[in-house]
Amino acid sequence: MKHPEPNSVENLFNSVAPNYDYLNDLLSFGLHRVWKRQLLLWLDPGQGQYWLDLCCGTGDLAIDLARLVRPGGSVLGVDSAEQTLVLARSRAMKVSWLPINWMRGDALDTGLPSNEFDGAVMAYGLRNLSDPLAGLVELRRLLRPGARAGVLDFNPKVDGSLGARFQQFYLRNFVVPVAANSGLESQYAYLEESLKRFPAGAVQVKLAIEAGFLEAYHRPLAVGQMGALLLKA
Ligand SMILES: C[S@@+](CC[C@H](N)C(=O)[O-])C[C@H]1O[C@@H](n2cnc3c(N)ncnc32)[C@H](O)[C@@H]1O
Repeated sequence: MKHPEPNSVENLFNSVAPNYDYLNDLLSFGLHRVWKRQLLLWLDPGQGQYWLDLCCGTGDLAIDLARLVRPGGSVLGVDSAEQTLVLARSRAMKVSWLPINWMRGDALDTGLPSNEFDGAVMAYGLRNLSDPLAGLVELRRLLRPGARAGVLDFNPKVDGSLGARFQQFYLRNFVVPVAANSGLESQYAYLEESLKRFPAGAVQVKLAIEAGFLEAYHRPLAVGQMGALLLKA
């Protein structure tokens, strides 16, 4: 299946941004917070470290990260959709003591210096990139040797399997109708499409090694419906 044009992804997330947090909580029954917390537990960011949240969206994970790296550390949240960053900035203003900066940028070519970060996260971002391998190469480039990274996303299922049928049922019969109530039917119908072209966990591991990571593991979450690619640079 064809990968999306970067501009169309940017427009999509700009249009979803005002409803993104509300729908995220509703559609995951609040569980996305649990999965993000689990990701951070696995990555164990340390005080004084400099972390990156690529495809940071409205900034919830970057804010949680910033609590863990202070004092002395900081977090940079990067996203290509300006409207998501507007919300991230306003969310961060409520916790203005946390060390976070926001930057509009392309995860495939951030323009940031190499070997800069002690760690990185990317939640529900890799699936939306036009070239996931190029995204992993850029992520690897930004990390210091030995740094850790975690990529959280849906866990794509083998076509026809029970897991795949459950995912399809959930997306078509719950996610899209609920999003339609907010006028975002087509934007959320895109989720199923993006999942079809997203590589399975084992393939993500291979791509990460090809991208230059020393270690890569894929760990299932939420009875296998979600997955986290855990990386060491
Ligand atoms: C599904 S949202 C996830 C947001 C957030 N990380 C979360 O977990 O709630 C995907 C985000 O990736 C961003 N994104 C997609 N392609 C991108 C790219 N090439 N560079 C930077 N951000 C991108 C979108 O703008 C969007 O905010």
